[in-house]
This record gives sequence, structure tokens and C-alpha cells, in this order.
Amino acid sequence: MSATLAPAETAGKSTFDVEKIRADFPILRQQVRGHQLVYLDNAATSQKPQAVIDAIVEYYEKGNANIHRGVHFLSEKATEDFEHARRTVQRFVNAAEASEIVFVRGTTEGINLVAQSYGGANVGAGDEVVITAMEHHSNIVPWQMLCDQKGAKLRVAPMNDRGELILDEYGKLLGPRTKLAAISHVSNALGTINPVKQMIALAHAKGIPVLVDGAQAVPHIAVDVQDLDADFYAFSAHKMYGPTGVGAVYGKKALLEKMPPYQGGGDMISSVTFEKTTWNKVPHKFEAGTPDMAGVIGWRAAIEYMTHVGVARIAAHELELLEYATQVVGALPGVRIVGTAKEKASVLSFVIEDVHPHDIGTILDQEGIAVRTGHHCAQPVMDRFGVPATVRASFAMYNTRAEVDALARGIRRVREVFA
Ligand code: ALA
Repeated sequence: MSATLAPAETAGKSTFDVEKIRADFPILRQQVRGHQLVYLDNAATSQKPQAVIDAIVEYYEKGNANIHRGVHFLSEKATEDFEHARRTVQRFVNAAEASEIVFVRGTTEGINLVAQSYGGANVGAGDEVVITAMEHHSNIVPWQMLCDQKGAKLRVAPMNDRGELILDEYGKLLGPRTKLAAISHVSNALGTINPVKQMIALAHAKGIPVLVDGAQAVPHIAVDVQDLDADFYAFSAHKMYGPTGVGAVYGKKALLEKMPPYQGGGDMISSVTFEKTTWNKVPHKFEAGTPDMAGVIGWRAAIEYMTHVGVARIAAHELELLEYATQVVGALPGVRIVGTAKEKASVLSFVIEDVHPHDIGTILDQEGIAVRTGHHCAQPVMDRFGVPATVRASFAMYNTRAEVDALARGIRRVREVFA
């Protein structure tokens, strides 16, 4: 890998060198609108280190062939590299077996797969699916679609004014008709870290399986699916320094084996006749068609990069930045932070009195600062806080305190423009 951090430098806590990390991300070197780029839209998608770009280029230059289909050298090598990547993902989230990692296009497809396959087989008329009030649309709409198909009901656990789940209310919603709970690990709009281990235990005490939307968690905190005892856990590569268009859904093997396929096509079958088709074993049963080989191989490089830097140290660096940004931005006149949970990761959402978030985003962009403005694909969260939209700054391992200072200067500029 081309990460410039030497293992000796990564061994001690005090040696996290953000400038060395930044040097591994070519996109960060550029100027935007005449200013040094300040990229604070990492919850939407993170930038990619050279090691990931190189792995994808190398795959296309030297390794491209279809997998699981050929006896020739390149096909065997591509298959081996693809399955190696599956083992890398498995280890990263501590799944018991590589076959519990199903490659999909991203978190959204992972959740749709579970909704249609597990949900399709197990949710019936009058049953219930429990979600929380802070879900991304991708962990709301697939369940609404399922509930509509089945005549089932979606129940929503509320949150408090800080953006924390009200655990008691969640517990009360878990009842005899609940067939599944689907909960986010970290809220993309608020940054709240949910107590998912406890939430899973509460559901399991009533025999209810749990899907966790981990899209905003895996890039920022260590995730151990066995320790959490999650039944399903969905996440995407592109928010964790990997390529777009690829992700995984972890599922406990006993559940995956019982579930029907999600899509039909090549590679997911064991045998096909016009009379009857039998399914391949897991995870291949859920991976119809030619997958994103380059994406999966690039993802492996991203995970190796994160592991090399150290997930605990990434988390500590981002938390320090978040605390600094909360203090600096929160102290600016007219600013209100939306989402003030005690446990947060990476995300600072805010509004400025009398200025629309889109105007804030536009002025920040003139200063070379990239943030996301809007409802963040979480419209019910905006409704809960009585705002049409927020400005969201979200941090990654390569962000700095100087960039937080630039954000604060940009916000002062917004105030000047709208004074
Ligand atoms: N889900 C992504 C976000 O939160 C796109 O911005």
C-alpha cells in the first residue's frame, strides 16, 4: 500500500500525523474557487487515498476478468482477490465467517435485500417493523414498501430534543407482532451514536432480530458485529475511503441460509432447468450477476489503509475535531447546533438564525469549503427539530483544526453578508 505512515509511527497514540495522512489523498491538494479546498462533506462520501486509486487502476491494468466463471489465469486471480477482499471486510467488522458478508451496491441495497428477502418471508399482515425517528430514508422507505406489500405496520421509536433515542419508548414498541427492528448505528443527520448493543439485547429478549444501518458508523468507530450480536449489519465502502457503488450486508449465516434469494441471475444458482432452479450457497445466493470486482478490490485497499492508520486513532482524532468544532461553531452568534447527543461521531449539523442553509452552503462554497446543506435524506429528522434543512459539516481522518477555523471564518462571513 502507498500510505506514507510507517508502522513505527502508527504504534504510539501521540504520533497521529494528519499532514502525512493528507498527503495520501491527492484530491485534497487542489484549490477550489481560488481557495485551498476544505472538504467537510465526509458523511456524504469520503475522499480516497492513493492506495485505493492504485488498487483500482492495477486491477484494470493487470487483473481484470470475471470471477467464479473461468479456469484461466486472470479469472482465477480475480476470484482470489475478490474473495480475499471478502475476508478483509469480514475481519474488519469481526464477522464469524466470510460467507456472512454479502457484497451489494451499498447500504441502501443491503437494507432492501433484507427487507425483501427476510422481510418478504417473515413479515405478514398485522405484523410490525420497528425503526427509530432518526433513520435515513434508506432505513425507512424499504420498510414502508414492505409494510405496504404485506399489510404490516411501521412503528417509530422517538428521540429527545438532543437527538438521543428514548430507549424506554423503543422497548415498549417491541411487541408480539414485531418481526424486525431496523436501527441506525450513527445518525447521518445528527451524528448521534445509538446504544445499538443494548437495543439489540432488548429486541433479542423478545425473539426479534435486528438490522443495523452502519453506513455512518463503520468509517468512524470500531464495529464488532459479533459483540453487538447484530443479525444484519449494512454498510458502504464509499463513506470509508473506498470506491462508490459497493458495500456489504452482514447476516448471521443461519438466517442467510434460510432466506430466499433477492435477485435472480448468474452466479446465484446451483443448477437451472426450465422446470426448476436451485440456489448457490451463501453468500453467492445473494450476489446475482457480475459484481463490482474493481470496487470490492478497491474497498479492500481502503480497509487496509484504515487498519494501518488505526481505527481507534481515527476515532480519537475525529472526536477531538468534533468537540473543537462544536465549541468554536456553537459559540458564534446566531448559530444553533442541531443534534447535541452525549455520544456523537463526526457530524456537526447547525442552522443560523434568519439565513437559509442553502445560502450558507453557497457562501461557504465561495470560500472553498464543502459542506452538505439540505435534509440529508432524513426529512423526518428535520421535521422533529422544526427546521427545513441544516448545514452539516462532517469530519474524516484527514481534517484539521485549521479547517474548523476556516469553517468558523466562513460562518462569520455569512453573518456579514446577511447583516
Ligand atoms: N447518506 C449520505 C449523507 O448523509 C449521502 O449525506
